This record gives sequence, C-alpha cells and structure tokens, in this order.
Amino acid sequence: MHPDWIPLSEVGKRPYAEAVALFRKHVNPGLVTLLEMGGYTAIDPQEAEGAVIIDAQGKRILDFVSSYGALNLGHNHPRVRQAMIEVLTDRKVDLSKELLSRHVAVLAHNLSLLCPGDLDQVYLCNSGTEAVEAALKLASRYFQGKRQRFIYAKESLHGKTLGALSVTGNERLRRYFPLLPNYAVPYGDAGAIETLLKTAPQEGEGAIAGVILEPIQGEAGVIVPPQGYLRRVREITERYGVLLILDEIQTGLCRTGTFLACEAEGVVPDILALAKSLGGGLASIGATISRTPVYQKAYDNPHDCLVQTTTSPAPPPWPPWRSIRKRNWPSGPPGWANASRPS
Ligand SMILES: Cc1ncc(COP(=O)(O)O)c(C=O)c1O
Repeated sequence: MHPDWIPLSEVGKRPYAEAVALFRKHVNPGLVTLLEMGGYTAIDPQEAEGAVIIDAQGKRILDFVSSYGALNLGHNHPRVRQAMIEVLTDRKVDLSKELLSRHVAVLAHNLSLLCPGDLDQVYLCNSGTEAVEAALKLASRYFQGKRQRFIYAKESLHGKTLGALSVTGNERLRRYFPLLPNYAVPYGDAGAIETLLKTAPQEGEGAIAGVILEPIQGEAGVIVPPQGYLRRVREITERYGVLLILDEIQTGLCRTGTFLACEAEGVVPDILALAKSLGGGLASIGATISRTPVYQKAYDNPHDCLVQTTTSPAPPPWPPWRSIRKRNWPSGPPGWANASRPS
C-alpha cells in the first residue's frame, strides 16, 4: 500500500484542516475558497441528526440549508438508517445486469402508488440531472424524434449535464457550453407558452416536444408562480398536444406540504422528475416517472429497452415516504422537535 494511503478507520481521527487541504488539492479549490470566505471551513462537523449538525466543540448548529431539498427527512433519519442496515446485513443482490432486483421493482411499484394519476412507469437513476435527461429523451422519443425542442422558464435550474442545462435558464451556468437550442419564457406567464406553441412548427426544426417547469422555482430564489399557473399550463399543453414535464426535484417529497407540489393545483404531468430527498438523505437516487401511454409510445419496441438505462439503478434505502404521505408532513428524529415547522 502507498505510505500516504489513508484507511477508512483513520478518516474521523485526523484533523479537519487536513480534509479541507485535501478537498482544496483534489476536489474543488474554488469551492474551498468560497466556503472559507463564509467561515464554513472553520466548522468541523462531527454528527448530524434531524435539522441539527453538531461540531467538534459540541456546538449545535441548526441546518437551514438542508442540502437544497435533499434533507426533507433531516440528517440520518433513523428509519432510513435502519433500512440501509437491514439491506446490507442481508447481503441482497441489487447490482446485476442480468438478474432483476426485487428492491428496484418494488421501489418503482411503491413510487407509482404515491404519485397522482397514472404516473406508473418508473426509471431509476442516481441524480436529479440524470432524471431530467431521461425525461427530455423520453419526450423526444414520444414524438419519434420529430419534435426535439423544449420550452423552459428563465432563471430555472434543471441540472448541469448538457441536456438538462439546455433547458436551464440560469445564464451563469449556461454561458460556457454548447447547448441545444430551446425556448425560454418568463416564469409564471402561461400566455408566453401558448404564444410559442401557436407559432411553432408541428414537425422538424423548431418543433416543440414539451414544456419543462419547476412548480416553485428553487435556485432562482424560491419563486412561487401566480395561483392557477400550473393548471393553465396543463390545459395549454393538452390543447397543443405537447408533453408537460414537472421537475419536482426540489419541491417534491412533502417539501411544500403535499407529496408533490403539483397536487396543490390538481395537476398531473406527463413526466415527473424526482431526486434529492428521494434518497432519504443517505443515498443518491433520481427517478423519472411517466404516464404509461407516454412511456409505451416512446419505448414500446423491445429493441429500445437499453436506450435509457444506467449501470446502478438506485438500490435501497427505503425512505419511509409511504407513512409520510399519509400525514403529509415528515415526523423525524429528535432534531426536528427543535426546528420550527408549519402547524
Ligand atoms: C429543480 C432542480 N432540478 C434539478 C436539479 C439537479 O439535481 P442534481 O443536483 O441531483 O443533479 C436541481 C439541483 O439543485 C434542482 O434544484
């Protein structure tokens, strides 16, 4: 073994300053500089539970960032941890390209039960941006490639891979890269979407496959659209025969009080993207969930069954979303008790 190799057993015992230096050297020097400016690298995080992080001096820090929506259940939710321990103890088979995983099958089944309408077809992946990529490809395939453009909202964020970035409105992220030509509209303005759909060609260059939106814009600064916006967009997309893709990567999983934010307006999208809190705060899971007729039209040919897959299709944990949906608000570990939450 290399003399500088650090074994796992040593990680927690070494000074935090070393981790900061290794991060600067091997991971992202710019990010370390940015966090230093905010004083964050001086905090040595030791443990976390619920909404509370405890540092090396025993100071309790209330985590208002909560990983931008990845910690709807808080840090280290006991039932998610327990589920992971059970699965690891049982030495289950989840990573095989030849044998189907029981966990993946049942996770897809359970997710379809939690989602409204006929959102029944579940593609599992590892991140939000992958879930959005799969959604865009699915919509494009639905139209057999004859419509390839999307309408997206200005200031939106749907991910940082090239496809997802091509429907992301945040110019600071877009400016360096060659992106697919899509159509940006102001967020909250359903009329702007209709105007574009009225004039766009039905097929070929410039033809529109779908509209992608966040029900509430997250990274843009938590922008809540006018009431009825999603419902209007749903009506317009139906009228013009294009697909509605909702990105609930930040808003989903009870973040806004219902399991999905779109449920507040009684809207069912054709394709839904989930990630972040789907992994219960302890795993990275993304999902693209579509209405069965949409999926079937896109990928009904057996030759296409490998067109959209990934090597690691989201193994466990089993976040307790089912019981959470019943109550529509997470009950969590002790850390939650001290954090304020809607009554
Ligand atoms: C609404 C939305 N969509 C997509 C993403 C990308 O998710 P990921 O970081 O898991 O790729 C984010 C990330 O912040 C997001 O807020």
